[in-house]
Amino acid sequence: MAHTRLIVWASWLVFLIIAPNLVDSLGVNWGHQASHNLHPDVIIQMLKDNGIKKVKLFDSDHWTVKHFAGTGIEVMLGIANNQLEGMVDYSHAQDFVKNNVSKHIYNGGVDIKYIGVGNEPFLTAYKGANVKTIFPALKNIQKALNEAGLGNNIKATIPQNADVYDSGKAGPSQGDFRKDIRPLMYDMMRFLAQNDAPFVVNIYPFLSLYENPDFPIEFAFFDGGSKPVDDNGIEYNNMFDANLDTLVASLKKAGTPNLKIVVGEIGWPTDSTPNANIKMAKRFYDGFLKKMATKKGTPKYPKDIEYYLFSFTDENQKSILPGNFERHWGIFTYDGKPKFPMDFTGSGNQKMPVGAKNVKYLDYKWCALKSDIKDEGKIAEGTTYACRESDCTNVNFGGSCNNLDFRGNASYAFNMLFQMRDQDVEACDFNGMAGIVTSNISVGDCLFPLALESDAARQMIQLSVSMLAGFLVFLALF
Ligand SMILES: *[C@@H]1O[C@H](CO)[C@@H](O)[C@H](O)[C@H]1NC(C)=O
Ligand SMILES: *[C@@H]1O[C@H](CO)[C@@H](O)[C@H](O)[C@H]1NC(C)=O
Ligand SMILES: *[C@@H]1O[C@H](CO)[C@@H](O)[C@H](O)[C@H]1NC(C)=O
Repeated sequence: MAHTRLIVWASWLVFLIIAPNLVDSLGVNWGHQASHNLHPDVIIQMLKDNGIKKVKLFDSDHWTVKHFAGTGIEVMLGIANNQLEGMVDYSHAQDFVKNNVSKHIYNGGVDIKYIGVGNEPFLTAYKGANVKTIFPALKNIQKALNEAGLGNNIKATIPQNADVYDSGKAGPSQGDFRKDIRPLMYDMMRFLAQNDAPFVVNIYPFLSLYENPDFPIEFAFFDGGSKPVDDNGIEYNNMFDANLDTLVASLKKAGTPNLKIVVGEIGWPTDSTPNANIKMAKRFYDGFLKKMATKKGTPKYPKDIEYYLFSFTDENQKSILPGNFERHWGIFTYDGKPKFPMDFTGSGNQKMPVGAKNVKYLDYKWCALKSDIKDEGKIAEGTTYACRESDCTNVNFGGSCNNLDFRGNASYAFNMLFQMRDQDVEACDFNGMAGIVTSNISVGDCLFPLALESDAARQMIQLSVSMLAGFLVFLALF
């Protein structure tokens, strides 16, 4: 008897050791720049259903963050760039830690691991706006964390765009930080090293392809077929490895060769731009997830890397300054539907990810151009206005709604505005050109979406319920 029990125990032990939990190093970004966001509880259920244990947020909104308490999901909080200046004042950093971090730390609370201070603060588009504030903000946040007794478990870091380093025309081994910010980067790297904090980097083969028509397309993916780039005997056959190893060389030059690297954003968009489509996104993720599962990292960083996919859901109010694809990075649609089969464990076991449950939509109502309206000038005017106020990125070349005709474009635009404005009847008028219909006017692959019931509406309901309760208590007392 004792023997069999021992054998059972032993095989359990072996099972525990050899059954690797492949998705441990996988996280996702979840941003809120949408007219209607899924409720945090719906998102948390999706994360659980898909075995994803880490999430990276772009702010530290208390209401959102508190939902992660007791879920076992590890959270990376964010501080937006426009809040960096405030954090230069240490008392503000202390307030931030007190209100947005410490409050969530209790037995059964939120598992906060990192604070992302700023987001890609050195993008050239910002013209140096964050150069003076970012390092003081980083130092103050870490100091406030340390003072609150949280510094051992929670590390402040800065999610950086991969454009903070390069190797010119030379190979990855010649990498170094960008000249205009080099001394600052070196100082910050030493600070991160002293605090045992990681370097967080966002790497986007899609953007390399988008920005450079000569970029060898195979090099963006992980399935071979590209002409390898030789760097002192090391062969690179994908952009990701070459890019990350350029960072490895840069960290060495900064005197911090052992800094841990976390990939804060990686992914492929699925709409509104040539090369941004489901077929190519699937190809990218298939290769990437398989690579992740090997846990072998890159030639110069042969380790199990922590990755955060960008992004969990689409966000229809992101700035499209970088390009129309910007609102379509989700592996799920705005309403939590999976877009294509994938396997988060990388073992090639393809299936549709588990989508959102209990999604609440507004009524089955769409807004369309009336058939008797003929004035093309006025229609075009209305279309332009509606697109400016909502999101028509999908009608562009390479987008899923690019085949609509002139009148289809108008209905698409009118409906987008109508939905974004919570189906307000006044938003479906357009000087009498538009009307509400109750049948689905989607055309083929071009989805005319229905808006979600918004968080704001629910919060209002919660608020009025608690106010009513408060009022009743008041009545009862007097
Ligand atoms: C907490 O986080 C929210 C959202 O990021 C931010 O608006 C707020 O200013 C933060 N609170 C403090 C005290 O910094
Ligand atoms: C529909 O709108 C898109 C984007 O503005 C435009 O490129 C396209 O030409 C329009 N289609 C027609 C038929 O007018
Ligand atoms: C409308 O039709 C499209 C297919 O064209 C479908 O994907 C979508 O789910 C439908 N919307 C609703 C609310 O039924």
